[in-house]
Amino acid sequence: MRLTEKVHHILTNHLQEGDHAIDATAGNGYDTIFLAEQVGPSGKVTAIDIQDCAIRSTREKLESAGLIDRVKLVTGDHAISLRKLIEANRGKIAAVTFNLGYLPGSDKCIQTHAESTEEALAASIQLLTIGGYLCVTAYRGHSGGIAEAETVEAFMHKSQTDGHAVDCYEPESSDSPPILWVLKKS
Ligand SMILES: C[S@@+](CC[C@H](N)C(=O)[O-])C[C@H]1O[C@@H](n2cnc3c(N)ncnc32)[C@H](O)[C@@H]1O
Repeated sequence: MRLTEKVHHILTNHLQEGDHAIDATAGNGYDTIFLAEQVGPSGKVTAIDIQDCAIRSTREKLESAGLIDRVKLVTGDHAISLRKLIEANRGKIAAVTFNLGYLPGSDKCIQTHAESTEEALAASIQLLTIGGYLCVTAYRGHSGGIAEAETVEAFMHKSQTDGHAVDCYEPESSDSPPILWVLKKS
């Protein structure tokens, strides 16, 4: 099973009609569409991406799928955007997903970075419900990817020490495989 499918499998069993979920790296919108389907017509998804082209692509897919009404699209940095959500949404978010790196087929210079990713992960913990899921897929095959993946790993180990349940999935087959961290908030 690919890591994106693994994330969807875990969240299919967790998300309920009416939930609020966040896609912190909307990209081409595949995870946003998935989350919007899971939370149903009475649910809500906030989808964030730093690039206009990603938000446009996500909007087009949501409009075609008839799901745009349940999704708020935010153009901006996820650390800043998630921090802004905390006051009104602390402890209310059922799941936050991060699919790190760059937008396939776009400018590879625009990619997620260790520092803002770490801040965004910390904000996500505050946003999650007890029992809520934080799913983070990190890539180690591009410049900056290894440092970012190490930052995510350190964050997850610290979170485990703080009492949250943390699992890690890593395919065995390739040289620099992506890695998926799944945190369940305690
Ligand atoms: C691997 S892609 C995400 C793929 C997406 N989940 C999908 O289903 O198509 C990573 C995305 O992160 C975005 N990104 C990079 N830095 C960011 C930041 N600081 N805040 C929010 N998004 C960022 C990129 O623009 C890119 O679209």
